[in-house]
Amino acid sequence: MRQVFWVVLASVLLNGCGGADSDSPEARRQVVFKQMLLSSEELGGMLRGRLAFRPERFAECARELNNLAALPWQYFPSPEGDERSTARPEVWDQHARFEAFAQQLQVATEALQLAASMPQVSVDQLQPALWQVEAACKRCHEAFRAY
Ligand code: HEC
Repeated sequence: MRQVFWVVLASVLLNGCGGADSDSPEARRQVVFKQMLLSSEELGGMLRGRLAFRPERFAECARELNNLAALPWQYFPSPEGDERSTARPEVWDQHARFEAFAQQLQVATEALQLAASMPQVSVDQLQPALWQVEAACKRCHEAFRAY
């Protein structure tokens, strides 16, 4: 699993839908989350008209986001140690729910990746799939992340 993490992350950093570092579980998951944010912001920018819509780039970022969406969950090993974290205790107290939300995100990113790989796909066709992804981020943050 450790190896998969670094392979995926290295390829992500090279392709640059974004950047990061460190070795604790807290640091590792935060690196992944930041990268997920960069990817999803680029995807959102293309569907909201802030960035030019380039289908190939969109498909690349959607693939990256789908790869990243599998990674953070293994880095929630136990209730917090000394590291900086905004994870709420509910992550461990309601772990089944947390895992279900993580699963919902992965279903959504997979659907987005699939949609993005269709030939001649349009912004309109992609929007619902990205909104599902964004809703999955939000749903979990509202329940499990302290701001
Ligand atoms: C299943 C729950 C869950 C889902 C789904 C989820 N997150 Fe998070 N996210 C968290 C938790 C918990 C934290 C707090 C982690 C910490 O501080 O250790 C967090 C933290 C973050 C952070 C802050 C990282 C930092 O540097 O402290 C960002 C950015 C982020 N998430 C982005 C996203 C994006 C983008 C998505 C969707 C594509 C997403 N998250 C989906 C649970 C989730």
